[in-house]
Amino acid sequence: MPNPVWISLTFKYNLDHKYSDSVNNKALNKSKHTTDNDEFYTYYKDIALEVDNYASQLKGKHIYCNCDNPYLSQFVLYFIRNFKKIGLKSLTSTCLNNPHGLYFHVTDIPQSIIDGNSLDIMMWTKKHTVELNGNGGFQTPECQQILKTCDVVITNPPFSLFRDWYDLVKSAGKKYLVVANMNTCLSANISADIVEGKARFGCATTNRVYYFWRSSPTSNDRLKIGYICWLTNMKTVVKPFIPTVKRSISDYTTYDGTMIIKVPKLAQIPAGYKGVMGVPITFLFKHNPAQFKIVGFASHGKDNKYDMFSPHINGKEQYKAILIKYA
Ligand SMILES: C[S@@+](CC[C@H](N)C(=O)[O-])C[C@H]1O[C@@H](n2cnc3c(N)ncnc32)[C@H](O)[C@@H]1O
Repeated sequence: MPNPVWISLTFKYNLDHKYSDSVNNKALNKSKHTTDNDEFYTYYKDIALEVDNYASQLKGKHIYCNCDNPYLSQFVLYFIRNFKKIGLKSLTSTCLNNPHGLYFHVTDIPQSIIDGNSLDIMMWTKKHTVELNGNGGFQTPECQQILKTCDVVITNPPFSLFRDWYDLVKSAGKKYLVVANMNTCLSANISADIVEGKARFGCATTNRVYYFWRSSPTSNDRLKIGYICWLTNMKTVVKPFIPTVKRSISDYTTYDGTMIIKVPKLAQIPAGYKGVMGVPITFLFKHNPAQFKIVGFASHGKDNKYDMFSPHINGKEQYKAILIKYA
């Protein structure tokens, strides 16, 4: 159970959504190797900025936040505040908690609660939260059963279990909107879905940096983490991106053993080029399938059928790239 310091701090930041200036990517890198650093929490403001774009697709839907403490998660707070505005059918949240996970489910919310302050909502949500039999892990049979009944899963899952989370939600055939690490999106199973147009980055248009709280906060215990994106299989709105660069193709280098040019920055995508280009993963923030086709990617050359080669130039290893051509 969270301690009272955390609750009071959470409440404080619910209200003012203050952002920290401290940059700490080390914690995220560490989280690839341990679950200790999965305790990051998404800010309300960042959730609203993204989820607001899907209101019409969420209307009448049962939302499931499957890695979210019902009375501390800002995802839950957001969906409570916007329950009637979006026209949700129901909202469920579960979270890992030993020995018994927490479960919250509502099909209606009194207007007085929706209009209340964060503390009112938190208290009301807590009153409606019960314990699960198991520990609330998203992989437990109980939570998988809930998953089957929902329409859309929306959360920020533990980075260390992201691929398991993805495979589970995908195999359940559910819509999802989830906070992800950009590099993880180039893993074999996810990148194939991106190439096939079954998964895409969310509506955020830049390589956004998100802010999280740690689980045992002290006054400075907040983090700014880069290389984060939203990943979804819902429809997104992509702002037009018009390449205007008219450089000679000989100004670009090609990857070893290929005719594929390396475009180091999105702003350098040559206008009207007919061949295949290797672009940074940040291209996915701008990808409009009517404009460009993703033909594959260059990672290790063997992750899946779309991983064309390991990117090297003059024998020197290059950053992983998305391979695109004009549609
Ligand atoms: C990155 S945090 C995000 C928390 C919350 N979703 C949010 O965005 O504020 C990931 C959360 O997943 C929880 N978690 C870890 N393993 C889990 C599991 N197997 N099933 C469900 N939640 C888990 C962690 O305790 C942590 O609170």
